[in-house]
Amino acid sequence: MSRVAYVNGRYVPHAEAGVHIEDRGYQFADGVYEVIALIGGRFLDEEGHHERLERSLRELRIAQPMGRKALSHVLRQTARYNRLTSGIVYVQVTRGVARRDHPFPADTQPSLVVTARRIKGPSAAAVEQGVGVITTPDIRWLRRDIKSISLLPNVLAKQAARENKAYEAWLVGEDGMVHEGSSTNAWIVTKEGVLVTHPPADAILNGITRLGVLAAARKQGIKVEERPFTVDEARKAKEAFITSTTSHVIPVVAIDGQPVGNGHPGEVTRALLAGYLAGFGLSSGSFQ
Ligand code: PDD
Repeated sequence: MSRVAYVNGRYVPHAEAGVHIEDRGYQFADGVYEVIALIGGRFLDEEGHHERLERSLRELRIAQPMGRKALSHVLRQTARYNRLTSGIVYVQVTRGVARRDHPFPADTQPSLVVTARRIKGPSAAAVEQGVGVITTPDIRWLRRDIKSISLLPNVLAKQAARENKAYEAWLVGEDGMVHEGSSTNAWIVTKEGVLVTHPPADAILNGITRLGVLAAARKQGIKVEERPFTVDEARKAKEAFITSTTSHVIPVVAIDGQPVGNGHPGEVTRALLAGYLAGFGLSSGSFQ
């Protein structure tokens, strides 16, 4: 089955889909994106992703290419044309096509691209056995709350993780605090059973999964502290895990080759994965 992409008002064969070479996304990484999961024909947290997309656009003063309802229709049509019931839909908005010049162009329409792709959920092995992360300095700009397509530091960090046979790289600030992963949020559970994650300040992307997991934690009566933690605190923690649209909740059992807690996935992590999925009427088996 051939894939279909939405590009500026048209549904086109994926292999032929393209934007102009002077699109500001291509030249300046002047744009934002969202990745939304689709499971069993339903988008997870669609409203949350719309809200964050609109916020990212506002912060960068890029016009919304269309209203929320119209975009929601495009997401559904793109999924439908790709016969996708489980996978991800990718949305990218850039400031549009204009002669290369740094200031905002006048009267330029934003570019909107939507693609859809089948993916399985996180692997059963990762969920059951946990994964390792490495740590690396956070060399990104200071507006990480904006979901910008400018991802070079994240790409380099993830590549370093792969080369070190780790699943993810945790990005650490100059103050020694773990900000987040290269494409995930970072969490620990202390020996006292307190769930700790970085507050949603400019230092991190406020993950939609992060918000879902916080809601699940509150529902389960788990004490939550939104505060930064150090690599050392994470190593000594009882449990650690990461969250994202594509990873859901994956236990972290090693940091830079050193075990976290007893080196095995913990109960709180497991309960939070179940609670997060239950929020959508799902269980781990729903998307394997
Ligand atoms: N990544 N932090 C960063 C830097 C991210 O890029 C992401 C998402 C997250 C988790 O956010 P959410 O729960 O909304 O997916 C945190 C997406 C999936 C990506 O770039 O593919």
